[in-house]
Amino acid sequence: MTHRLSQILALLTFCLLFLGGLVTSTGSGLAVPDWPLSYGTLFPPMVGGVRFEHTHRVVASLVGLLSLILVATVGFEKRGKPVRWLVISSFGLVVLQGILGGLTVLHKLPAPISIFHACLGPIFFCSVVALAEVTSPEFGRVAEKGGVGADLMSHRQPLIAILATCFVFVQILLGALVRHTGERIWFHVGGAVIAFILITVWVSRTLGASESKSVARPALFLGLLVVVEFFLGIGAFAFKRLEGAPETGLARILFPTFHQTVGALLLALCVLVILRSKNFVGPRLR
Ligand code: HEM
Ligand code: HEM
Repeated sequence: MTHRLSQILALLTFCLLFLGGLVTSTGSGLAVPDWPLSYGTLFPPMVGGVRFEHTHRVVASLVGLLSLILVATVGFEKRGKPVRWLVISSFGLVVLQGILGGLTVLHKLPAPISIFHACLGPIFFCSVVALAEVTSPEFGRVAEKGGVGADLMSHRQPLIAILATCFVFVQILLGALVRHTGERIWFHVGGAVIAFILITVWVSRTLGASESKSVARPALFLGLLVVVEFFLGIGAFAFKRLEGAPETGLARILFPTFHQTVGALLLALCVLVILRSKNFVGPRLR
């Protein structure tokens, strides 16, 4: 039950991240000026930017509700302490994220709060993906054998794995800085090159050492997606930040939105590859 629910929650959160990106990209952040209600009601007329902002709020409420249900289900199922802590901290994160969303509206989108909100979303997504992974029956079987994937402890893998994951997060932070202040784009581009190199080295070593598809598949996806992310970033730059870029148009909305969502997916894939690597997982995680 916890596993199924957390899979659904991960999928719903992914949609929510995309919707959040649409709110920012369409400039609809202040389309609904009040919070927690929307124009004093639960369902305002869905016109203009309200469509994006209110849909984001409704889906966020569903995500919050599902996270609360998960707290209850782990209480019923006899799960280990780490899973219980993961569920409780995910719930804490979603509450904080909701409050930040509300605060950014009430204070008229100050950059620090919007950036915090933009960075916490992917962290919450990772915690839910981790939850779906560690509660899966396959993870249990693999954990009992000490893991079947690439050996995380050999070839300096832990260092590269952690550095690559941290760099993806730094990129999310720097990307949010560019998005909400228009500043430091060249730091973000420089960071992208470092993240790209780290991920490529990590993925190739993982594929070389991997004995099972369960780690090879997400590692390969990670390697391919970082290339896609690069092109989406160039698109976002060309259609939004380059001098003479068009003031309107679908590309101006979609490139940054997909770029932002794929950033969160990259971070989640890093977490998944680490969790599936040999010697990292253990029965104690259950
Ligand atoms: C609970 C889970 C939530 C998640 C995972 C989430 C995620 C996101 C993401 C990823 C963005 C895009 C940020 C960016 O592109 O820089 C965003 C934007 C936004 N979200 Fe949320 N959000 C959540 C809840 C809420 C709630 C409850 C509100 C309430 C009003 C809210 C209001 C906003 C606003 C106004 C923006 C646009 C900010 C801006 O343009 O500066 N969010 N959200
Ligand atoms: C590993 C590579 C990269 C990652 C993980 C990454 C991640 C991100 C994320 C998550 C955001 C949005 C943050 C938010 O919504 O608050 C962002 C914004 C942005 N990124 Fe990247 N990025 C990468 C590479 C690049 C590259 C190569 C470029 C090329 C110039 C680029 C250009 C941009 C621009 C222009 C924005 C702001 C978009 C806007 O103003 O709406 N990114 N990045």
